[in-house]
Amino acid sequence: MLTVQLAEGVEFRTLEPWQSAEFADHAERVREDISPWIPWAATVTDAASAREILVSYAQRAAADDGRMYGIWIDGVLQGGTVFRKFDPVLLNCEIGVWMGAAGQGRGLITKAARHMLRWAFETRGMARVEWQCDPENQRSIAVAERLGMTCEGTLLKAFVMNGQRRDVMIWSLLANEWERST
Ligand SMILES: CC(C)(COP(=O)(O)OP(=O)(O)OC[C@H]1O[C@@H](n2cnc3c(N)ncnc32)[C@H](O)[C@@H]1OP(=O)(O)O)[C@@H](O)C(=O)NCCC(=O)NCCS
Repeated sequence: MLTVQLAEGVEFRTLEPWQSAEFADHAERVREDISPWIPWAATVTDAASAREILVSYAQRAAADDGRMYGIWIDGVLQGGTVFRKFDPVLLNCEIGVWMGAAGQGRGLITKAARHMLRWAFETRGMARVEWQCDPENQRSIAVAERLGMTCEGTLLKAFVMNGQRRDVMIWSLLANEWERST
């Protein structure tokens, strides 16, 4: 589906179980940058735990209910994206993202998410794409806004992160809004 050049030297493509060792190294490098917001930052600590999440997403891709992609900058895995939920019957899905400090501030996540939106709406006929984030995660909120999403509201104490119950903001983009923006 996606093997895309996002910018000079920046590749966006699937992240798969054979890349477990690389994903474990990546988790080590970006742990501090993403750990307040990304649950697997605490649990991916070696190739075996990296493999667990990659196998889970590979199985979900085979079942068409989730997908995982990486972003390589000059050949080094620096971030990625997921279809965290993907429901081809109800035509709803959710995009999640992360990027280490080395790749932040270049618009790469916004570009990658736009490719995913295009595929979700134009290839897969999705009716709605969701974005969920902590109300304190300003950089994530900024991406949702850049993507033209609407904040629908906040679920109170709906998620557990690092042992704390957290609120969850729900953002969305609908198919007709995507059409109008392209
Ligand atoms: C959320 C996260 C992925 C956002 O990364 P990011 O690099 O800020 O996002 P983008 O790729 O959209 O880049 C936007 C920045 O690039 C700049 N930029 C440069 N060129 C750009 C372009 N062509 N298009 C858009 N933005 C561009 C923007 O001005 C913005 O700059 P800023 O850092 O000064 O605000 C990152 O902060 C992160 O991984 N955080 C930890 C994990 C996390 O929170 N994940 C989300 C959980 S809900």
